[in-house]
Amino acid sequence: MQEEIWMVIMKRLNLLIMLLILFIGQAEAKDVFKPYELWPDTDGLHINAHGGGVLSHGGLYYWYGEFKDRGSKANYGIACYSSKDLYNWKNCGIVLKVGSRGSEIEKGCVMERPKVIYNSKTKKFVMWFHLELKGRGYDAARTGVAISDKATGPFKYIKSYRPVAGHWPVDLDKDKRQALSKAEFAAITAGKEHWQLGKTEYLLQRDFTEGQMARDMTLFVDDDGKAYHISASEENQTLHICQLSDDYLSFTGRYSRVLIGQSNEAPAICKYKGKYYMLSSGCTGWAANEARSAMAKNILGPWKPLGNPCRGVNPHNKLGPEKTFGAQSTYILPVSGKDGAFIAMFDIWRPSNQRDSRYLWLPAIIEDGRLIVQWQDQWDLSWFDGDKSGKDSK
Ligand code: GAL
Repeated sequence: MQEEIWMVIMKRLNLLIMLLILFIGQAEAKDVFKPYELWPDTDGLHINAHGGGVLSHGGLYYWYGEFKDRGSKANYGIACYSSKDLYNWKNCGIVLKVGSRGSEIEKGCVMERPKVIYNSKTKKFVMWFHLELKGRGYDAARTGVAISDKATGPFKYIKSYRPVAGHWPVDLDKDKRQALSKAEFAAITAGKEHWQLGKTEYLLQRDFTEGQMARDMTLFVDDDGKAYHISASEENQTLHICQLSDDYLSFTGRYSRVLIGQSNEAPAICKYKGKYYMLSSGCTGWAANEARSAMAKNILGPWKPLGNPCRGVNPHNKLGPEKTFGAQSTYILPVSGKDGAFIAMFDIWRPSNQRDSRYLWLPAIIEDGRLIVQWQDQWDLSWFDGDKSGKDSK
């Protein structure tokens, strides 16, 4: 008798599971972006690729991001989704898996803001990401690199760095090229907070031998094929823009300090008509702050701050430019085939349930030498066609 009841329960369960799969599997094809809302993949599940970046390669887009659980630690690794049209994304699984015990990327470490670039000389896909070692909070401030033959992985973890150890930035005066031991640093800066040191060279000099700190990061490949690793360094006070080696797997040692002492995080870079534009945030952890933008004629600088690039208001949370619509930047994606059309990618973080964090993809253009990011409740790529001025209604 008990066995029969059990069989009935099992049958009902199977039916329920099949119905669920059918229901979820029939995710409708999309042709619009709906910033802030849940964004189902082609299986009907909210895309799980936070702090991400997008690579355009061979006619497809690949979106790489942090695969989040409820918390923010890496329990699985880096996820990848692919798309033909930027609206509909197919889950390609975890392309860089967390490692086993003792590995630098073991389960429970922090793997954030992964970005992937393609090296046309070596024909390899190269991923860099912000790495914090397990059990050490955000102290390690390292950047990790992984490699793959295919965009969809599997990526093989190579190693992590404190970048440019033993090198001085190109823009540092000769008389300041003086490394400090930890004891010397402590004596000089006694009683001062990091933010009080941002305009000085002390943090840079302290980390000269060990290598510079690297937290929030992005990658940028220039027209000449040279790639750059851009990261929040010097206790998040100053960004470093570091040239990568020809195979994109290490640093050449050529780098600059950018927006010195201005506490930028979440950097994202694009290039238009020979000029470089940067989108970034301030440093308030998961809480939103005011976005910033900057422009440079040379990627290594000098970078000129150009203020908040955001326009409009997010009706879901009533937040506007003063809080970046409740979001934080992660990447600027050039739209293939549309000159001057960019998508500014942001995350709305949900620290109490990180996998439910939302995405804001908003249209971005360069207008009068400035980056402009325009809020839209709902939009599609035709936004970039024709006159955009009438669309800046909010
Ligand atoms: C943010 C950063 C995120 C994450 C978070 C942790 O400022 O942009 O990527 O590191 O802090 O609090």
